[in-house]
Amino acid sequence: MKDMNIKIKLIPIFFGIFSLLIIACNNQTEEEQCEKKEVEASAINPNGDSELALLMRKMYNDADSIKKLITNNEGNITKEYIIELERIHTAIPTDPDVKTPEFEAYTKLMIEEANALFSNETNRAEGFNNLVNRCVECHQSFCPGPIKKIRKLTIN
Ligand code: HEC
Repeated sequence: MKDMNIKIKLIPIFFGIFSLLIIACNNQTEEEQCEKKEVEASAINPNGDSELALLMRKMYNDADSIKKLITNNEGNITKEYIIELERIHTAIPTDPDVKTPEFEAYTKLMIEEANALFSNETNRAEGFNNLVNRCVECHQSFCPGPIKKIRKLTIN
Protein backbone atom coordinates (compact mmCIF):
# COMPACT_ATOMS: atom_id res chain seq x y z
CA MET A 1 0.00 0.00 0.00
CA LYS A 2 2.84 2.38 0.94
CA ASP A 3 4.60 1.39 -2.25
CA MET A 4 1.58 2.29 -4.38
CA ASN A 5 1.45 5.77 -2.85
CA ILE A 6 5.03 6.50 -3.76
CA LYS A 7 4.42 5.37 -7.32
CA ILE A 8 1.40 7.63 -7.64
CA LYS A 9 3.35 10.57 -6.29
CA LEU A 10 6.12 9.97 -8.80
CA ILE A 11 3.78 10.10 -11.81
CA PRO A 12 3.50 13.90 -11.99
CA ILE A 13 7.26 14.25 -11.57
CA PHE A 14 7.95 11.89 -14.45
CA PHE A 15 5.35 13.67 -16.52
CA GLY A 16 7.02 17.01 -15.79
CA ILE A 17 10.46 15.80 -16.79
CA PHE A 18 9.07 14.19 -19.91
CA SER A 19 7.32 17.42 -20.96
CA LEU A 20 10.51 19.44 -20.43
CA LEU A 21 12.42 16.98 -22.60
CA ILE A 22 9.87 17.31 -25.38
CA ILE A 23 9.98 21.10 -25.22
CA ALA A 24 13.77 21.11 -25.26
CA CYS A 25 13.89 18.82 -28.30
CA ASN A 26 11.32 20.82 -30.20
CA ASN A 27 13.20 24.06 -29.65
CA GLN A 28 16.36 22.47 -30.82
CA THR A 29 14.99 21.09 -34.08
CA GLU A 30 13.34 24.41 -34.87
CA GLU A 31 16.59 26.25 -34.43
CA GLU A 32 18.52 23.70 -36.42
CA GLN A 33 16.09 23.85 -39.29
CA CYS A 34 16.45 27.60 -39.57
CA GLU A 35 20.21 27.46 -39.23
CA LYS A 36 20.49 24.72 -41.77
CA LYS A 37 18.43 26.79 -44.19
CA GLU A 38 20.78 29.70 -43.77
CA VAL A 39 23.77 27.58 -44.65
CA GLU A 40 22.03 26.16 -47.69
CA ALA A 41 21.09 29.63 -48.83
CA SER A 42 24.68 30.73 -49.16
CA ALA A 43 25.84 27.39 -50.51
CA ILE A 44 24.78 24.94 -53.16
CA ASN A 45 21.06 24.67 -53.47
CA PRO A 46 18.98 27.82 -53.74
CA ASN A 47 16.09 25.85 -55.31
CA GLY A 48 13.37 24.20 -53.30
CA ASP A 49 13.18 27.11 -50.88
CA SER A 50 9.79 28.41 -49.80
CA GLU A 51 8.30 31.62 -51.16
CA LEU A 52 8.70 33.16 -47.69
CA ALA A 53 12.35 32.12 -47.39
CA LEU A 54 13.16 33.65 -50.79
CA LEU A 55 11.30 36.82 -49.85
CA MET A 56 13.19 37.03 -46.54
CA ARG A 57 16.51 36.67 -48.33
CA LYS A 58 15.59 39.51 -50.69
CA MET A 59 14.38 41.60 -47.73
CA TYR A 60 17.73 41.05 -46.05
CA ASN A 61 19.78 42.06 -49.11
CA ASP A 62 17.63 45.11 -49.80
CA ALA A 63 17.83 46.13 -46.13
CA ASP A 64 21.61 45.97 -46.45
CA SER A 65 21.44 48.39 -49.42
CA ILE A 66 19.13 50.72 -47.48
CA LYS A 67 21.56 50.62 -44.57
CA LYS A 68 24.33 51.87 -46.88
CA LEU A 69 22.11 54.66 -48.24
CA ILE A 70 21.25 55.83 -44.73
CA THR A 71 24.84 55.54 -43.45
CA ASN A 72 26.11 57.68 -46.36
CA ASN A 73 23.22 60.12 -46.07
CA GLU A 74 22.19 59.28 -49.62
CA GLY A 75 18.66 58.02 -49.16
CA ASN A 76 16.12 56.15 -47.10
CA ILE A 77 13.74 53.21 -47.15
CA THR A 78 11.48 53.23 -50.24
CA LYS A 79 7.79 52.52 -50.86
CA GLU A 80 8.94 49.54 -52.96
CA TYR A 81 10.63 48.04 -49.91
CA ILE A 82 7.50 48.49 -47.81
CA ILE A 83 5.45 46.77 -50.51
CA GLU A 84 7.97 43.92 -50.36
CA LEU A 85 7.41 43.63 -46.59
CA GLU A 86 3.65 43.49 -47.14
CA ARG A 87 4.13 40.37 -49.25
CA ILE A 88 4.94 38.48 -46.02
CA HIS A 89 1.18 38.31 -45.41
CA THR A 90 0.64 36.12 -48.49
CA ALA A 91 4.00 34.37 -49.02
CA ILE A 92 3.93 30.62 -48.39
CA PRO A 93 6.34 29.49 -45.62
CA THR A 94 8.33 26.25 -45.35
CA ASP A 95 6.33 25.38 -42.25
CA PRO A 96 2.62 26.28 -42.69
CA ASP A 97 2.22 26.34 -38.88
CA VAL A 98 4.11 29.63 -38.58
CA LYS A 99 1.20 31.59 -40.04
CA THR A 100 -0.46 32.29 -36.68
CA PRO A 101 -2.17 35.47 -35.39
CA GLU A 102 1.08 36.20 -33.53
CA PHE A 103 2.99 36.04 -36.81
CA GLU A 104 0.48 38.44 -38.40
CA ALA A 105 0.90 40.83 -35.46
CA TYR A 106 4.70 40.84 -35.81
CA THR A 107 4.36 41.50 -39.55
CA LYS A 108 2.04 44.45 -38.89
CA LEU A 109 4.38 45.93 -36.27
CA MET A 110 7.31 45.70 -38.65
CA ILE A 111 5.38 47.41 -41.48
CA GLU A 112 4.37 50.22 -39.09
CA GLU A 113 8.03 50.66 -38.15
CA ALA A 114 8.94 50.77 -41.86
CA ASN A 115 6.33 53.47 -42.49
CA ALA A 116 7.64 55.45 -39.53
CA LEU A 117 11.14 55.27 -41.01
CA PHE A 118 9.78 56.39 -44.40
CA SER A 119 8.50 59.64 -42.91
CA ASN A 120 11.47 60.09 -40.56
CA GLU A 121 13.72 62.92 -41.69
CA THR A 122 15.66 63.58 -38.50
CA ASN A 123 17.14 60.31 -37.29
CA ARG A 124 17.04 57.66 -39.97
CA ALA A 125 19.77 55.53 -38.42
CA GLU A 126 17.71 55.13 -35.28
CA GLY A 127 14.52 54.45 -37.29
CA PHE A 128 16.37 51.82 -39.32
CA ASN A 129 17.68 50.11 -36.17
CA ASN A 130 14.14 50.02 -34.79
CA LEU A 131 13.12 48.22 -37.96
CA VAL A 132 15.93 45.68 -37.56
CA ASN A 133 14.72 45.07 -34.00
CA ARG A 134 11.28 44.22 -35.39
CA CYS A 135 12.87 41.59 -37.62
CA VAL A 136 14.66 40.12 -34.61
CA GLU A 137 11.52 40.10 -32.42
CA CYS A 138 9.61 37.89 -34.84
CA HIS A 139 12.64 35.68 -35.38
CA GLN A 140 12.93 35.08 -31.64
CA SER A 141 9.51 33.42 -31.77
CA PHE A 142 9.55 31.78 -35.18
CA CYS A 143 13.04 31.26 -36.58
CA PRO A 144 16.00 32.02 -34.30
CA GLY A 145 18.63 30.72 -36.76
CA PRO A 146 19.28 33.92 -38.76
CA ILE A 147 19.16 36.36 -35.78
CA LYS A 148 22.92 36.82 -35.59
CA LYS A 149 23.03 37.64 -39.29
CA ILE A 150 20.07 40.04 -39.02
CA ARG A 151 21.67 41.91 -36.10
CA LYS A 152 24.62 42.70 -38.36
CA LEU A 153 22.31 45.07 -40.24
CA THR A 154 22.28 47.40 -37.23
CA ILE A 155 23.86 50.81 -37.88
CA ASN A 156 26.46 51.58 -35.20
C1 HEC B 1 6.56 38.04 -38.90
C2 HEC B 1 7.75 37.26 -38.62
C3 HEC B 1 9.05 37.67 -39.33
C4 HEC B 1 9.54 38.93 -39.53
C5 HEC B 1 8.93 40.27 -39.09
C6 HEC B 1 10.79 38.77 -40.22
N1 HEC B 1 11.04 37.43 -40.46
FE1 HEC B 1 12.65 36.68 -41.44
N2 HEC B 1 11.84 34.78 -41.34
C7 HEC B 1 10.67 34.46 -40.69
C8 HEC B 1 10.37 33.06 -40.91
C9 HEC B 1 9.17 32.29 -40.38
C10 HEC B 1 11.43 32.55 -41.70
C11 HEC B 1 11.57 31.12 -42.27
C12 HEC B 1 11.00 31.17 -43.69
C13 HEC B 1 10.76 29.82 -44.33
O1 HEC B 1 11.61 28.95 -44.21
O2 HEC B 1 9.71 29.67 -44.99
C14 HEC B 1 12.34 33.66 -41.92
C15 HEC B 1 13.55 33.56 -42.61
C16 HEC B 1 14.49 34.59 -42.72
C17 HEC B 1 15.82 34.45 -43.28
C18 HEC B 1 16.43 33.15 -43.82
C19 HEC B 1 15.97 32.98 -45.26
C20 HEC B 1 16.60 31.79 -45.95
O3 HEC B 1 17.58 31.99 -46.64
O4 HEC B 1 16.08 30.67 -45.76
C21 HEC B 1 16.41 35.70 -43.23
C22 HEC B 1 17.82 36.07 -43.69
C23 HEC B 1 15.44 36.60 -42.67
N3 HEC B 1 14.30 35.89 -42.36
C24 HEC B 1 15.66 37.97 -42.51
C25 HEC B 1 14.68 38.87 -42.06
C26 HEC B 1 14.86 40.31 -42.04
C27 HEC B 1 16.09 41.07 -42.51
C28 HEC B 1 13.70 40.83 -41.53
C29 HEC B 1 13.32 42.28 -41.30
C30 HEC B 1 13.47 43.20 -42.42
C31 HEC B 1 12.82 39.70 -41.19
N4 HEC B 1 13.46 38.53 -41.54
C32 HEC B 1 11.59 39.84 -40.62
C33 HEC B 1 9.87 35.33 -39.96
C34 HEC B 1 9.99 36.72 -39.92
